Amino acid sequence: MVKINQNFARLPQSYLFSDIAHRVDAYAAAHPHQKVIRMGIGDVTLPLPCAVVDALKSASSEMGSKETFHGYGPEQGYPFLREAIVEYYRREMGVVLKPEEILVSDGSKSDVGNIVDLFSPDNTVLIPDPVYPVYRDTNIMSGRKIVYISADSHNAFLPLPDPSVKVDLIYLCSPNNPTGAVYTKDQLAQWVAYAHEQEAILLFDAAYERFISDPALPRSIFQIPGARECAIEFCSLSKTAGFTGMRCGYTVIPMELSFPGPLGEPISLNKMWVRRQTTKFNGVSYVTQRAAQSVFTPEGLEACDKNIHYYRENSQMICSLLAKKKIEFYGGAHSPYIWLRCPGEMSSWDFFDFLLENAAVVGTPGSGFGKNGEGFFRLTAFGSRENTAEAMERLSPLL
Ligand code: MLT
Repeated sequence: MVKINQNFARLPQSYLFSDIAHRVDAYAAAHPHQKVIRMGIGDVTLPLPCAVVDALKSASSEMGSKETFHGYGPEQGYPFLREAIVEYYRREMGVVLKPEEILVSDGSKSDVGNIVDLFSPDNTVLIPDPVYPVYRDTNIMSGRKIVYISADSHNAFLPLPDPSVKVDLIYLCSPNNPTGAVYTKDQLAQWVAYAHEQEAILLFDAAYERFISDPALPRSIFQIPGARECAIEFCSLSKTAGFTGMRCGYTVIPMELSFPGPLGEPISLNKMWVRRQTTKFNGVSYVTQRAAQSVFTPEGLEACDKNIHYYRENSQMICSLLAKKKIEFYGGAHSPYIWLRCPGEMSSWDFFDFLLENAAVVGTPGSGFGKNGEGFFRLTAFGSRENTAEAMERLSPLL
């Protein structure tokens, strides 16, 4: 008889954002005339930049012509996109990478979830709590031991390593999802030193890097000396360029990362990832990769920054209401997420129900991101200006 993966029984019953979507759908069905304002999942609302739309049109025309049609492409991404990303890192962050270290995919969620294939189930994983649930759930699925490190108001949701804790894989996200907190270079240097001491790999999620507006704050783990020897970085165009519906991201695996294989011979993680992807993934469409390439042009980046500025103004609107109401909150400055303490000591899900019932506003209950998220709540700034303003008007008398 077939044996199922029993680890699935250890997962929360449903994925956080699917759970929320079901509850909101039920509310909307019961209140058909009420306009629901969604500030839960971090989905963008502004359309794609013109440079991206032009690139999509022109790549689509190429696909319609015998001379310029593209079938399967390289699974790890077309050279034109990998080179554009290398140039982006060099110009914007002073980080030198090789094109073959950039592995293009359909988004960082897939890569963050799939990277665990490269590591033995015996590894112990360090995960901050609260956390983007994909890190936790994918490691539960593959049966790894997880050690949690507390992110809370005592460390401003920026936990630092404890050298007495022995681990093999470390997940970090900065700017953080869900708390919006951002590590400084000094703090990330402590994590890099810890990863070296532990001979561990640091899995760094930089999906929100472009929301950082302070040049002193690091946007890539590779801005930290020593990171090439211990870190993998995940990045996405979802939030940078509005690609949540397009699907394109990339993972950076430095050539320095290699570990002993079955006979003690060094095996490169980069090569293992390429081996995995060539087996299980046929690459991102040519049209999408041309669109992604256009993001890294001066016009593309300028348009992305304009959109990010718009979302930042939404953040300011949310933060100013919370400040006025004297509600403790984090994030919002270099992140599209605002992480607030639920008023009146309400639990996260009670506050979720309270806002849905009384304001038809949807957020994300902090407890969905981990034990330490209990009593907190996440709002996103990715809504339209009108909806964000209307949501704040509805919330104001309730807070
Ligand atoms: C979130 O709301 O946390 C994100 O949109 C989820 C994701 O990027 O997969």
